[in-house]
Amino acid sequence: MNRIFSGVQPSGNLHLGNYLGAIRNWVRLQGDYQCIFCMVDMHAITVWQDPAELRQKTREVAAGMLAAGVDPVKNILFNQSQVSAHAELAWVFNCVARIGWLNRMTQFKEKAGKNRENASVGLYAYPNLMAADILAYKATHVPVGEDQKQHLELARDIAQKFNNDYGVDFFPQPEPMIFGAATRVMSLRDGTKKMSKSDESEYSRINMTDDADAIALKFRKAKTDPEPLPESVEGLEGRPEAANLVGIYAALSDKGKADVLAEFGGRTFSEFKQALTDLAVSVMGPINQEMKRLLADPAHVDAILREGGRRADEIAAPIMQEIKEIVGFLRP
Ligand code: TRP
Repeated sequence: MNRIFSGVQPSGNLHLGNYLGAIRNWVRLQGDYQCIFCMVDMHAITVWQDPAELRQKTREVAAGMLAAGVDPVKNILFNQSQVSAHAELAWVFNCVARIGWLNRMTQFKEKAGKNRENASVGLYAYPNLMAADILAYKATHVPVGEDQKQHLELARDIAQKFNNDYGVDFFPQPEPMIFGAATRVMSLRDGTKKMSKSDESEYSRINMTDDADAIALKFRKAKTDPEPLPESVEGLEGRPEAANLVGIYAALSDKGKADVLAEFGGRTFSEFKQALTDLAVSVMGPINQEMKRLLADPAHVDAILREGGRRADEIAAPIMQEIKEIVGFLRP
């Protein structure tokens, strides 16, 4: 049976880029697969997190997923630290993966920056924990963004080396499901930069918690160029802000960019921004309200995560038992 595992870092505000690039795709997968969706709080602490904030962000991300339509009964929604198999298997994988493999990980180099000596060991071993997340459930499919492809390849290498080293056919080779190229949402202030929770400017992103007024204001202030919208997709070349806004409209309306331009080509940005605002409010408004409702009742969100953790553990614990057997851990 196909099983999907995906993780999201509970380390910041969810924004339109997370929604269109990841969460919405997860919602669409849930009919066809058994999906396990995880708030990866253990990954989050590879860089410093304030404890109270981490707890709150974990709830917030869970609320965002629920509000966007993730069904926690059909699927499993939980936070990573509840299920001990993640940490246990990560240790085994620390001993399977080679230092040379981790040295090639581009995300570590980016995140550690110049001061690599001072990065946490956890940040270095991050990809091993991610492999453990996936393989503790023997997941076969992993929806991730383009930037996580290398980590997924490492997970495949780890699975294979484990199988070879121990002479077993135990772990599957998890397949990436890459979303996002089409729905890469860029900053509203700079169409060449990804929309990001860490951008200093609030005007660079639409948060999933933004209400209609905030959405309208941010689109009104969004950077554009002086030309009207082009008639064709080729006309977007060299116009990153125009391309981004058209891309957002296309994603929100589930149309192609060409269809959007067939409708809006030749029109001014002020007209287009008004239409974009109306569309964004109609899609994001109900999600935003549901998110607020959920966050007003944290005990309810916690109960959903607790039940998710229990069900996740039910799958992972027996797999972990087999792994311990294979590795030769004595169970006296
Ligand atoms: N590293 C992923 C990211 O930053 C999050 C993640 C952790 C993940 N574990 C995972 C994604 C397992 C997919 C599968 O986006």
